[in-house]
Amino acid sequence: MTTQKKPPDEITIRLFRFDPAFEQEPRYEVITYATEEPLSVMVLMQQLHALDPERACRTSMCFKGACGACLVQLNGRSVLGCSTLIRPGEEIRLDPHPGFKHIRDLVVDFSNPVSTEGESP
Ligand code: FES
Repeated sequence: MTTQKKPPDEITIRLFRFDPAFEQEPRYEVITYATEEPLSVMVLMQQLHALDPERACRTSMCFKGACGACLVQLNGRSVLGCSTLIRPGEEIRLDPHPGFKHIRDLVVDFSNPVSTEGESP
């Protein structure tokens, strides 16, 4: 008798959390999100916010890779959240983009760029 290996059905996320108005240091919240389907970073962020509205992120603007409002760091790389897929079984880290002034959690001020020497977009 053979047993079929069950495919992974969750994504493990290390989510950057920091509210400089109330906290001294950033931290990572580790979250396990159940899904059997791939989903975009943008949808994942929306779902994490829906589960806990204290998690701050930008929600969709154009949702087709044109506006840049979903720019975040995925595993240390800059990505457009609306056009980057995460698959069940992946372990990821989400950070705010370092090229702009940080506001809270994953939210940055796109009107206020900061120097990121050595950072590639
Ligand atoms: S939502 Fe506009 S580029 Fe992603």
